[in-house]
Amino acid sequence: MRKKLVVGNWKMNMTRAEAAACVETFVEQVSTGHDADVAICPPYLAISVVHDLLKKTPIETGAQDVFWAEKGAFTGSVSAGMLADAGVSYCIVGHSETRGRFGKLEVPAETTGYFAETDLTVNLKTKALLERGIHPILCVGETLAEREAQNTDTVIQDQLKAGLAGIDGAEFAEGVIAYEPVWAIGTGMTCDSPEASRVCGMIRTTLAEIWDEDAANRVRILYGGSVKGANAHELFSQPDIDGGLVGGASLVPDEFHRIVFAAK
Ligand code: PGA
Repeated sequence: MRKKLVVGNWKMNMTRAEAAACVETFVEQVSTGHDADVAICPPYLAISVVHDLLKKTPIETGAQDVFWAEKGAFTGSVSAGMLADAGVSYCIVGHSETRGRFGKLEVPAETTGYFAETDLTVNLKTKALLERGIHPILCVGETLAEREAQNTDTVIQDQLKAGLAGIDGAEFAEGVIAYEPVWAIGTGMTCDSPEASRVCGMIRTTLAEIWDEDAANRVRILYGGSVKGANAHELFSQPDIDGGLVGGASLVPDEFHRIVFAAK
């Protein structure tokens, strides 16, 4: 039986002082009484302050991105070793805001994101994290155009096969996949729960094809995209959804608290 996991992705929000205030309130509300594993992914500069406050709690610290090289002339980048040193145990890779869709920089800005992550760099980052004992949260998901063209499943299968190439199931056992339909992120449009569950089930079947059923059954598969207190229980009760990757609602302690308690 997989334990539910709720991860807050703060994106580019929170100064260190704001982060400390948010975590202090949240920790008071959430130290006991729920059944989920919980992690918070602040921006890089707030990682230390958040980790210091979370150290004595079961809540874990995550990061939102990583660079795959160990060290060197990579201006602006942060390595998996640096994240491990700062106490990070989860790290998001391949979020739609950091993927350059199809690896092409000339794709319009609204679909590209500014970081031009490709399936190849997602794969390199995932391997770098595993080498350092950090659990990757590998994000996959289709755009609205891909959904309307009935390409949802193939887009996601391709992202999984490329993102996980050369990684074996035992190595990824504590890794996480997040299904994040691009059209549902930050838009208030949630994928309806049966469909979100169907896609998460399809992801598990794909993992079983890549590895085997045992390995696939160990991986937690989250749903992300406009998760909030009001819809979390319904989403998390679906058989194939093991928790949530939460953006906007994770910035509000009361709301994130409701989501964590919805994960039974
Ligand atoms: P959202 O973001 O909850 O604000 O839609 C989710 C995410 O981007 O991980």
